[in-house]
Amino acid sequence: MLMYMDELEEVFSYALKSTIFINRDVLRPEYIPTELPHREEQVSKLGAILAPALRNSKPSNIFIYGLTGTGKTAVTKYVLKRLYNKAIEIGSDIVACYVNTRQEDTTYRVIVRLGECIGLKLPFTGISTAEAYRRFLKVLDSRNSIMIVVLDEIDFLIKKQGDELLYRLSRSSDDLTNSKISIIGITNDLKLVEDLDPRVRSSLGEIEIVFPPYNAIQLEDILKRRAKMAFNPKAIDDAVISLCASLAAREHGDARRALDLLRVSGEIAEREGAETISIQHVYIALKEIERDRASEVISTMPLHSKLVLLAIYNLT
Ligand SMILES: Nc1ncnc2c1ncn2[C@@H]1O[C@H](COP(=O)(O)OP(=O)(O)O)[C@@H](O)[C@H]1O
Ligand SMILES: [Mg+2]
Repeated sequence: MLMYMDELEEVFSYALKSTIFINRDVLRPEYIPTELPHREEQVSKLGAILAPALRNSKPSNIFIYGLTGTGKTAVTKYVLKRLYNKAIEIGSDIVACYVNTRQEDTTYRVIVRLGECIGLKLPFTGISTAEAYRRFLKVLDSRNSIMIVVLDEIDFLIKKQGDELLYRLSRSSDDLTNSKISIIGITNDLKLVEDLDPRVRSSLGEIEIVFPPYNAIQLEDILKRRAKMAFNPKAIDDAVISLCASLAAREHGDARRALDLLRVSGEIAEREGAETISIQHVYIALKEIERDRASEVISTMPLHSKLVLLAIYNLT
């Protein structure tokens, strides 16, 4: 017991003394960067499509595709925030509603969230989905606004509940007289769109924006800018950043993975009481992240797949 106490003391004192990070929050997944290098084209395309909302016209519906970590969520949130600020500045009524359907994974919960965005509090149970949707439309139509609905990671909703809500939303102009709804659907799953009902597909995918994977040089650039804010300049050098970028580029250019590697490398250096992050720390971080990812994948598998995996493991 005493040994653990001493180890804990040591961990605390390293953390207190550590000068590796100056602001580790900027490496967290939820941080929205104020600049998005190598996504200028997507930012301006999205901005141009949404701009008519400022003059009270309904923007086209948009489908955004790209693999994980290609900046889809960050770019969309960034552009919406800028659009919203502009709308306030000129006094136009735009409602931007972001819904992640991995979290809000039923049609009903998505509608509750849409309600929240216009100040409507729907009960969590007790009324039908159709009734909830009707109340939502009624309140939305009582104001004269353009509502931009972002359905992020939309594959989760479609796989679980089908495309009924998408269909209804894409037909909302039939039910609304004063307000309008535009939809931005975001997905990592390129096959998803092929499987959609053709009616939904044609009305939702009026415009498509593709996010290609980043290459190693682009990732390095993204990491460098972020590292400047996150780390004490003495604690990190370019070799460490290049390594994180090239390891993340090896699979596909996933910026989330690259940023995770950098953050975890820093945390390992800190835990060890080191003054700088070394190449070794990056390799340890890589292993840690891969182990976490494998156990996450396994934990979400159905029981039968787990048993098959166990059988194979026992054979080897
Ligand atoms: N061009 C970029 N510049 C800076 N950071 C970026 C850029 N693209 C992605 N990121 C960061 O990488 C991470 C993953 O991006 P995200 O938008 O969540 O990817 P996606 O939604 O495509 O899976 C986020 O932390 C985001 O801030
Ligand atoms: Mg995303």
